[in-house]
Amino acid sequence: MDTERGHKIQAMFDRISPRYDLLNRLLSGGQDMRWRRKAVAMLGDLQGKTALDLCSGTGDFLQIFRELYGPDITLYGADFAYQMLILAGKRHKAKNDPGLVLCQADAMFLPFEDNSLDAVTIGFGIRNVVDRPKALKDILRTLRPGGKLVIIEPSIPKNRLIGIPFSFYFKHIMPFIGGLISGDRAAYKYLDSSVTAFPSPGNFVRLLKEAGFTDAKACPQLFGTAQIYFGEAGIHIEL
Ligand SMILES: C[S@@+](CC[C@H](N)C(=O)[O-])C[C@H]1O[C@@H](n2cnc3c(N)ncnc32)[C@H](O)[C@@H]1O
Repeated sequence: MDTERGHKIQAMFDRISPRYDLLNRLLSGGQDMRWRRKAVAMLGDLQGKTALDLCSGTGDFLQIFRELYGPDITLYGADFAYQMLILAGKRHKAKNDPGLVLCQADAMFLPFEDNSLDAVTIGFGIRNVVDRPKALKDILRTLRPGGKLVIIEPSIPKNRLIGIPFSFYFKHIMPFIGGLISGDRAAYKYLDSSVTAFPSPGNFVRLLKEAGFTDAKACPQLFGTAQIYFGEAGIHIEL
C-alpha cells in the first residue's frame, strides 16, 4: 500500500471490525444483504468456478456464494484489514473449508495470476481505495475473458425529496448510532465523507469503461440510495 491515507483507513477498519456486521445490518435497515444477492445474481452461473470477494470485510458475499453453490465454487476473500479477516475466518469456519482462502491484500496490488478469476465482488469497499483506477485495472487483469465484476456503493439520490433526508441520515444519524455502538464516531463520520466524495454513478461507470470493462453500467437500488455497478472483462485479442 502506498500512502499514509491508506494506512489510516486500514487502521480504522481494524478498529471498527468487532461491531461492523451489527452496524451494517442496522444502518442499512437490512437492505445490504438484498443488494448483495441481486449483485451475485448478475454474475450468472458460477457453479464450478472461482470468485473473489475483494475488500471482503467479514465476508457477506462469501456467505451468499456458499448458500447458492455449496462447496461447488472456489472462493477467495481479500481485505487489507487483518482484524476483518480474522472475523471472516471464524464466521466462515475457514479452517474446515478447503475451497475458501482468505488473504490480506491491497485492492491495488492483487496477489492473483492474470486471467485466473471468473467473478469479483466488492461490497461497500471501492470508495475507500486510494487509487480506484489502479484497482479496477488490476481486477481486470485477474479476470478471465467474460469474467464479471459487481460493486455495491451507496449513492446520493438525485430526487431532493429523498436525497435531503438521506444526506441528513448519513451526516448526522449514522455517525451518532455508529459512534454509540462502535465507540468510534470519527470512523462513521469518515464513512459519510467517503460517500459524499465518491463519483456520481455516471462518472464511476466512466471509470469502469476507462479501466477496460465492457458492458459497464450502474443499476440504482431503493430510490438511488445505492448502486450496483457491473462490468465484464472482454475477450482479449492479441494482434
Ligand atoms: C465498508 S467495509 C465493507 C466490507 C464488506 N465488503 C461488506 O460488504 O460488508 C470496507 C472494507 O474494505 C476494506 N478495504 C478498504 N480499502 C481497501 C484496500 N485498498 N484493499 C483491500 N481492502 C480494503 C476495509 O478494510 C473494509 O474491510
